[in-house]
Amino acid sequence: MRGKVKLKVSGIEKSFPGVKALDSVHFEVKEGTVHALCGENGAGKSTLMKIINGIHRQDAGDIHIDGEKVAINHPQHAQQLGIAMIAQELNFVPELTVEENLFLGRLPGSSARVDWKQVRKSTIELLERENLPFKPTQLMKTLSISEIQQLEILKALSIDAQIIIMDEPTSSISNKEVETLFQKIEQLRNQGRSIIYISHKLDEIFRIADEVTILRDGTVVGSYPIEEMDEENIIRLMVGRKLDNVYPKEAVAVGQTIFEVKDFTSEGEFKGITFNVKRGEIVGFAGLVGSGRTEVMRALFGLDPHTSGSVYLKEQEININHPRDAIAAGIGMITEDRKRSGIVPVRSIKENGSLASLEKFFTGGRLQWKKEEETNRDYFEKMDVKAPSLETLIQTLSGGNQQKVILAKWMMREPDLLIMDEPTRGIDVGNKFAIYQLMQQIAREGKAILIVSSELPELLGMCDRIYVMNQGTITGELKREAFDQEVIMKYATM
Ligand SMILES: Nc1ncnc2c1ncn2[C@@H]1O[C@H](COP(=O)(O)OP(=O)(O)OP(=O)(O)O)[C@@H](O)[C@H]1O
Ligand SMILES: [Mg+2]
Repeated sequence: MRGKVKLKVSGIEKSFPGVKALDSVHFEVKEGTVHALCGENGAGKSTLMKIINGIHRQDAGDIHIDGEKVAINHPQHAQQLGIAMIAQELNFVPELTVEENLFLGRLPGSSARVDWKQVRKSTIELLERENLPFKPTQLMKTLSISEIQQLEILKALSIDAQIIIMDEPTSSISNKEVETLFQKIEQLRNQGRSIIYISHKLDEIFRIADEVTILRDGTVVGSYPIEEMDEENIIRLMVGRKLDNVYPKEAVAVGQTIFEVKDFTSEGEFKGITFNVKRGEIVGFAGLVGSGRTEVMRALFGLDPHTSGSVYLKEQEININHPRDAIAAGIGMITEDRKRSGIVPVRSIKENGSLASLEKFFTGGRLQWKKEEETNRDYFEKMDVKAPSLETLIQTLSGGNQQKVILAKWMMREPDLLIMDEPTRGIDVGNKFAIYQLMQQIAREGKAILIVSSELPELLGMCDRIYVMNQGTITGELKREAFDQEVIMKYATM
């Protein structure tokens, strides 16, 4: 195939308390290629990348760059070796400016006197070279996720990184932003750089990768040129079994209307939203990013205000001005932005899981710890959360496993209506299936689900009805028999 080996890792071992995260891992990345890394949630992808980026130190094994053995002890050291990483969980200080962020840890001048003139000059040069519309003095908190990524890539270029790691870069950006990112990746590859690309979206991998390495339970199953692979093969190697049917949709008896929304409006966000959900139904909201779906759901749950309209749950009108009101009425919500509003990082899996259902576990002023333990265990088995125990701190779980705990937290409460915004983001194919099964179970019990998803196949696969939104209004409604991707796209853009 292409060029010479740029990066080689061999015999890498890494253990955390109670977990062997990586076990004699070997893989090679060639110059001027995009190398995809696939594997289930908790397979060890991020851990391996953190070792290459000097965040973690391996217990054993070697890393070679351009044939030379290197010891990478620190992210700054990785930078000097030409390695840059765009992390799965983007970390940045919101109050820093663009220029401060770009030169963080390597400010020119002396520690006593930073050469800010030089910083400003270099920042402007870099921004101009890459055609980015940011100002050096703009605060980080004003940038979108996609813009922060662009800035991270700029940072990689400013240190002339030859190895650029991207850990699930497309999990929270729009389709249009994905296209921009892919063009950039193409350009980086053509400049002879090596890109390591992690994603659970297999279609992306077939679009941009030259080679793919598959990890399972901390070991490498194999590395292959992309031409030799297809989706089915990758899934089989990742999961260890064949997955025939990705969507476990069953016909469930549909009952009375359980949730009804009339003329729901929030000035400048969305207008005249009218729809209903019946018992046993899974109802989807389709539309492009920015069409207002998330805004409607957030307002329905009381996270954001609304200006007019009425909402009925079980034929009773409810006033929702705070998530408290929604929860008391019997509504649960899994938000899109789970990092900010989803977890308590320094608490255990069990504590995070129970958080939404505490009154269920408290009777007569006492915690029914056995019930709490059993309910948690039941969900974590169903969702196959990878962790040494229920007492494990949630912040030590892999990205996808943290997501699963948040999903379980709301499912455990068994609300009458569960709102799910992008529920399977960052979740691998095998585990998506488990989540769909749980959704199906909720429907079977005569409850209802509202789901927002940017993955149209997911809505087509699991929903009974789909509403389509565009520019803050509902532009169409389709029943399952009439589901049609093209019709939905037409409504989404009309
Ligand atoms: N700092 C840590 N402390 C303890 N355990 C950890 C730590 N970081 C990772 N682990 C464990 O190592 C294993 C591999 O995690 P890793 O984050 O590498 O998975 P991943 O392949 O990136 O998964 P995902 O697709 O969910 O992001 C998991 O079992 C995880 O819980
Ligand atoms: Mg990860």
